[in-house]
Amino acid sequence: MEIQRFSIKQRNELKQHIPLLVTMCDYFTPLNSWMADKIKDVSDIFYAVKGTTILGYVIADKRPTHLEIELICVGTEGRAMKGIGKKLMEACEDAAKTYKLNEIQLDAQHKAEGFYNHLGYTILSKNNSGVRMKKILTA
Ligand SMILES: CC(C)(COP(=O)(O)OP(=O)(O)OC[C@H]1O[C@@H](n2cnc3c(N)ncnc32)[C@H](O)[C@@H]1OP(=O)(O)O)[C@@H](O)C(=O)NCCC(=O)NCCS
Repeated sequence: MEIQRFSIKQRNELKQHIPLLVTMCDYFTPLNSWMADKIKDVSDIFYAVKGTTILGYVIADKRPTHLEIELICVGTEGRAMKGIGKKLMEACEDAAKTYKLNEIQLDAQHKAEGFYNHLGYTILSKNNSGVRMKKILTA
């Protein structure tokens, strides 16, 4: 398994994967149009791939004060392999550092709070639909 970064130039290739990216997220089903917009505009997209199989991905966006995780999904096959979500989040940390940003923020589902907590994220706020979390990156 390896983590691949998609440059802005390669984004057109990703359009063919939209139906897969949408269905891979079983906890929340983004719209195809939402995904098409994100793929076009965000600063960072990383795929976890094994051969030609996409096992998971993360979409992140550079903001003035932090890197925002827009969406992370690891499919059933990838989840069984263990460690893919962590590697995708580490790729985002590396990206944030290249932008000289020392903070990552995200909106988590309640059920995923433990995953982010495990990776060093702390709670900024909480409501019925989820948890806002952040991590300060060390050099
Ligand atoms: C949440 C998700 C991205 C995690 O990816 P993953 O590949 O399954 O997670 P990893 O195997 O990399 O887990 C990293 C560590 O976090 C722990 N972990 C994973 N999910 C966890 C959870 N829900 N609660 C607590 N700990 C969790 C793992 O045990 C592992 O610990 P270790 O390093 O000590 O072995 C993935 O399960 C997923 O896509 N789930 C469905 C969609 C989803 O919930 N997305 C996030 C919504 S905000």
